[in-house]
Amino acid sequence: MRTRAVVFDAYGTLYDVQSVAAAAERHCPGRGDLITQVWRLKQLEYTWLRSLMGAPPDFALATRQSLAFALKGAGVAPEPALLDALAEEYLRLALYPEARAALEALSGVKRAILSNGTAAMLAPLVEGSGIRPLLDAVISVEGSGAFKPSPACYRLVEQVLGVPPDAVLFVSSNGFDVAGAKAFGFRVAQVVRGGAAAPPQAGPVAPAALFRLLRGRTEALGLDADHVVGSLMDLAGLVD
Ligand code: 2OP
Repeated sequence: MRTRAVVFDAYGTLYDVQSVAAAAERHCPGRGDLITQVWRLKQLEYTWLRSLMGAPPDFALATRQSLAFALKGAGVAPEPALLDALAEEYLRLALYPEARAALEALSGVKRAILSNGTAAMLAPLVEGSGIRPLLDAVISVEGSGAFKPSPACYRLVEQVLGVPPDAVLFVSSNGFDVAGAKAFGFRVAQVVRGGAAAPPQAGPVAPAALFRLLRGRTEALGLDADHVVGSLMDLAGLVD
């Protein structure tokens, strides 16, 4: 089936969630990396827990609550002003360097974002990074009642774009999202920047290395991506 749409995950795929580390370090000297990694790990855990509990898919709340968890774990009081300052970083994450050019190279098909982010979080992020004109839609899972990898989320793509699952190439760097999209019936491209991480050396493992070990790899769920790319620029070659 010819590809008629390329749909992107946002956080971690088009935007670098590690770009909050500088602000975390500025506000919490010496604890920035630990806070950043625990925050992202717990943020996604809270999305899965909220979905399983039947709670609304409020990614702003999951982001704030996981940040409070990470700060407390690092011995930092989760003061409202600090929560506001760090959570706001999610509204201006760094767009990966090749993202704009990669989207421009895909002008022959529909292009969209499908993200756990709330519409209120995604709007400033996408507008601020200047890629909104390159997208046919920015789809928040809010409308589905659950977070990814619920099939209800991926079902939004056909509802919004009018493109059936077998004509969609779904792009994500998040292993759980790759598995969920594959289980749903999309063709899937996983972005693994810098190639698969080598196993850490024996001895203590830094928080960022532990994060990569847990979340930057293909899950062992038997739902592997159809393609693994090192850059978003490789996607144009996958679209027939
Ligand atoms: C997103 O939905 C998975 O957080 C990632 O954008």
